Amino acid sequence: MSLLPQHGRSAVPAGVSPPEDLAVLAALAVFPNYTANAMFVLDPQGRRRGPRSDHQASHELLVSPFLREAKLCGTCHDVGNVATTKLPDGRYRYNLVNTEAPDHDPWMQFPLERTYTEWKLSAFASGGVDLGGRFGGNRGPVVSTCQDCHMPTTSAQACYYGPTRNDMATHDFAGAAVPSLDLIAAYTAGDLDIDQGTIAAGRAKALSMLQRAATIELHRDGDDLVARVLNHSGHKLPTGHIEGRRVWLNLKFFDGTGTLIDERGHYDPVEAHLDEAGTTVYEMQVALSEDAAIATGLPAGLSTHMALADTLWRTLAFHRVGSTMRASPMPVHRWSASATPMASTGMSSVSCCLPAASV
Ligand code: HEC
Ligand code: HEC
Repeated sequence: MSLLPQHGRSAVPAGVSPPEDLAVLAALAVFPNYTANAMFVLDPQGRRRGPRSDHQASHELLVSPFLREAKLCGTCHDVGNVATTKLPDGRYRYNLVNTEAPDHDPWMQFPLERTYTEWKLSAFASGGVDLGGRFGGNRGPVVSTCQDCHMPTTSAQACYYGPTRNDMATHDFAGAAVPSLDLIAAYTAGDLDIDQGTIAAGRAKALSMLQRAATIELHRDGDDLVARVLNHSGHKLPTGHIEGRRVWLNLKFFDGTGTLIDERGHYDPVEAHLDEAGTTVYEMQVALSEDAAIATGLPAGLSTHMALADTLWRTLAFHRVGSTMRASPMPVHRWSASATPMASTGMSSVSCCLPAASV
């Protein structure tokens, strides 16, 4: 990694970041003032950086603690659409063609990904959360940064030489990519240059992250079944790029003989059809405004075109337990991805009627 910190040109902590960083930052004509939109700084000399002072690298290596900061991940994992700008009335509109974005603040741009901001507003950013070892490998029960969860530690060597360390961070970056790895596996089936075992191993790690992302508590309240979802990830659930990510509850009711008598939120993988009528779908849906429709020649309204969307249609996600996001007058699981979210509880309840014969 030859990424440099984004602390600001003059604020690179002396004695913490390598002194070489200061010279690189001082030479920049334009300094990226925001942690977003891949506005990172690369060392023009390509000098590699790593976090350990006792490294045994056989190449030049500058010691940079920035690699352990969530901010490093934030340089790419907060994304606004730079072709749009927020108007004073809260709507987003396209910028004029061939003009630079008037504001580089990602909060002034249509939101495409807000993972870093979601994390920053959670208890993870202020000291960490004891999740009892659910994430982090050898790191211990308290996890805080993106690296803690997405680079769990294990006992390993960094290279074929050098010591075995118990705190070696894995570089899997497992997230939510189960379906995309299935697509890649199907597309590359029979290709001798592709190791299907490696794809399967990545899929297993992503699946494990998804399985650990939340827990569901069920209780009966009269004729209602109440499902309470607790989000254990370090941000909203789902997070990341807005297209194609959704979470829903699939409830199945059985009678005493094990026969299925009712179902809510059924998904048919052959038709790719989700029965949305009987469940709540947690997702972000976007749309084209009338202005965007005129500019693009596409119909106004709900759209799956992430780059052209300028309107938030519907946004719903599970919040983190202990999130410091402000409570809003909206119902618990409704939230807006604009600057004024949100519910404060970290959990959402979905109530549903219980078929009489179910056990
Ligand atoms: C230079 C830009 C960049 C930086 C820095 C970066 N990422 Fe990413 N990351 C991406 C892109 C692009 C994707 C793919 C798009 C997506 O899934 O959101 C991605 C995907 C991911 C995924 C999802 C993988 C999956 O299979 O679903 C995880 C998890 C992740 N990054 C974690 C991190 C963490 C943790 C850090 C900091 C240590 C980090 N990233 C730093 C650009 C970056
Ligand atoms: C407490 C553990 C934890 C922390 C801290 C955490 N994550 Fe995650 N992350 C998860 C889990 C679990 C998932 C899988 C569920 C999901 O998709 O939200 C996930 C999913 C993701 C994804 C996949 C969604 C996608 O677009 O592919 C990305 C990207 C990601 N995290 C980035 C980050 C970044 C960046 C940070 C720090 C700002 C971070 N995470 C902090 C646990 C964590």
